[in-house]
Order: sequence, then structure tokens, then C-alpha cells
Amino acid sequence: MSENSENKTPHEATENAPGARDHAAQAGQLDAADPLGAAVRDRFVLDDTVYLDGNSLGALPRAVPGRLAEVISHEWGELRIRSWDEAGWWTAPERIGDKIAPLIGASPGRVVVGDSTSINVFKAVVGGIRMAGKGCTEILVDATTFPTDGYIARSAARMTGLAVRPVEPTRIADEVTERTALALVNHVDYRTGELNDLPGITNALHSAGALAVWDLCHSAGALPVGVERYGVDLAVGCTYKYLNGGPGSPAYLYVRESLQERFDSPLPGWNSHADPFGMTSDYAAAEGIVRGRVGTPDILSLLALETALDAWDGVAVEDVRTKSLALTDFFLDCVAAYAPPGRVRSITPYDHGRRGSQVSLECSGAAEVMAELIRRGVIGDFRRPDVLRFGFTPLYTSFADAERAAWVLGEVLRELPEEDAAPGAGG
Ligand SMILES: Cc1ncc(COP(=O)(O)O)c(C=O)c1O
Repeated sequence: MSENSENKTPHEATENAPGARDHAAQAGQLDAADPLGAAVRDRFVLDDTVYLDGNSLGALPRAVPGRLAEVISHEWGELRIRSWDEAGWWTAPERIGDKIAPLIGASPGRVVVGDSTSINVFKAVVGGIRMAGKGCTEILVDATTFPTDGYIARSAARMTGLAVRPVEPTRIADEVTERTALALVNHVDYRTGELNDLPGITNALHSAGALAVWDLCHSAGALPVGVERYGVDLAVGCTYKYLNGGPGSPAYLYVRESLQERFDSPLPGWNSHADPFGMTSDYAAAEGIVRGRVGTPDILSLLALETALDAWDGVAVEDVRTKSLALTDFFLDCVAAYAPPGRVRSITPYDHGRRGSQVSLECSGAAEVMAELIRRGVIGDFRRPDVLRFGFTPLYTSFADAERAAWVLGEVLRELPEEDAAPGAGG
């Protein structure tokens, strides 16, 4: 772990001259001492670019192409319809849910995989409202949320006759009342990388009699979540970021065990029926987490995800967190050392307790700067109006990657003087 951090403001820390690539040796030492290291990194298909966009789309796990080829040629091509039973297709949503469960601190039988995050937000919010007390008149939504959660929550509220109140995560404990059915909160802010206080907010909601619904898209696979430990009621998350399931891979829904019996899905498709092949016109929900299912699962993506999760074999999420913080600390140190003073400002908290696994830097002309970084083989992304986002996936990001990214950023910033850098544009 680098020495920098909680209290220093890295971008004010140094005014070193360009040309001194003095953090490269330290990167080598940190990589050599990294317990996740090259063996885990080798589970992924990588090239000589520096890939810091795993908080948007995780890299391809090496085992996935072979497994998908086998699924297509054998399970689909030869077994065809028999695969629903013989290859375990029918039960894949629960089986793969059980594989995700330990990564978010859940026991088996609490997580089901399928549909998009947006759809699972809808299931969780309406399901939560249906469990809430009769006197509830509103739901709270994280005011900084990824937009889809807000859109879906507003629609869910409209359908159920409740009001929606946007509230900053840090204000939820003060704003929740006995009329609040639930709050929908992002665990890590997609834009700034700030980690919200899941234990504290969940506890405050419970004290007021409200449910806690968490969006784990930017935390699962990057840090321990502890859904059961902290009594989270409902949670959703995607699998294409830190879980590396592939583009559009299915999302998941977590329902606390003691709520499962009361979970009344707003999308009661035939896959969640107690007797799906009974083909009855009346709906009777299955027991347990199966009732979070809707219709026929996307088998190819599901099975790609199942194999992608093998990249976690022997990896503890606590070690991932340790490395994530070390990587982001080190990157901030390198940026402080290599970037022209004052050109970038971190909007990601320096405090470890409030940091996810990305670093977001405010920078004038960010769109142009990121386009140039990408041309030079450093892949992050840009968020309007002026944010450079760099995601750190501890399973495959090395300290050398962090150092090189910061070095190239410094070069680009020196070559693209601030006055020439156009304001950010595009998405
Ligand atoms: C926090 C968060 N929630 C929800 C979503 C959207 O999920 P989906 O497109 O799978 O519905 C994203 C996508 O990046 C996200 O970052």
C-alpha cells in the first residue's frame, strides 16, 4: 500500500518535473508482492492496453469462449430441448445466484439471476412497497443515483400511488419518516466512485420502519457488501462490471430470507410459478427466491456468466478490497506525481471508508483528454461534463497499469494545454 492517502491532497502534494518516471519501480515491487497477482490476472484475456473500464464492462475471462462454444455446439446443437433438464438450464438462475451470493455476503437461496438491473429495480421497488405498512405514502430515492433507478422508481411510485422524494444518501437517516416505505440507494456512486454507508443507512431506515433497497452495480466484486450482516432487505446488481459476465449479462435480485414469503413480484411470469408446467391460468408463486424469476432466461449469457464467476476461485473479496484501495491510492499518488499541478482534481473521496473501486478526476476538456488517452492505449471513460473515470478491477488490474495510466495522463495533459482543452461534450 502506498503511503499517500487519507489526509493528503495528492494534487497539491508535488510539483515534480515532467520526465521523472519515478513510480515505475514501486509499481513493480507492489505487483511482485500482490497476493492476487499474475496468476489471477492470467484468468482474463488482456492485451497491452491499460484497461481501466472494468467498472463499465469487465474484461473477458479466458474460460468463457470455450465454455460458450461447448454450450452452443453440444447443449444447444445436440441436446437441444433436453438441455433444460440434462444440462441444468432450468435451474441456472438459482444456481448462478448461489455463486454470486458469497460475493455480496449472502447465503444460498437468497439471490436469483435474470433480466436487467433496471427490471430488477422494478421488482425490488414494487415488491418492497407491497411489503410496506399501510400508512406509507412515499419512497426515497438516492438523489445521486444512476438514472435508470430514478426513472423506474418514479414509475413504480406512480403505479402504486406513492410519492418519490430524492434525497442525498448522507441525508437519508435524517429524512426518513414513518411514512417512508423504502429507500433505493446506490452503494457506490457511478460518477464519483463514492462509497455510501450501507450499514448506517440500512440501520437508520430500519429504525424508522422502512426497507433498505440497494443497487450494488458498482460494489459487488470490488468490495465486501455484507447484505446479510447488515440486514439489507432487497438488493439488485449487474454482472457485467466487476463480475465480468459480458456485455448485457443478466443482473441479480437479492431478497432477505425473512421477506421472501411476503415478496409479491410485480412481474409474476410463468418461471416464478410454483408449478410452471401446470400451465394453469391462476398464479401461485413458487417458494423462496424462485419467485424473483419472470420468463425464459437468457441461457447463453447466463452460462457465460457462470463460467466468468470461476475467475473468483480461491479469491477472497476482502483481499480484493485491500488491493482495490492500494491500487486507487497508488494511482492517486502517480497522478499527483505526473500530472501538471492543478489540471485534475479527484472527486473520489480519499478516505478509504468512502471510496469504491474507481477514481474520478475532474478535468477541463475531459472528453478530449479521454479520447487521447484511449488513442494511446489507456482505456477509461468520460462522463459529462468534465469527469475522467478510471475503474480498478483488482482481479486483473496491476500496479504497473495504474502507473502507466497516470504517466500517459500526465503526457496528454502537458501536450493539451488547459486553454486549448474544449469543455466536455458527448456521453
Ligand atoms: C448503478 C447502476 N444501476 C443500474 C444500471 C443499469 O443497469 P441495466 O442497464 O442492466 O438495467 C447501471 C449501469 O451501468 C448502474 O451503473
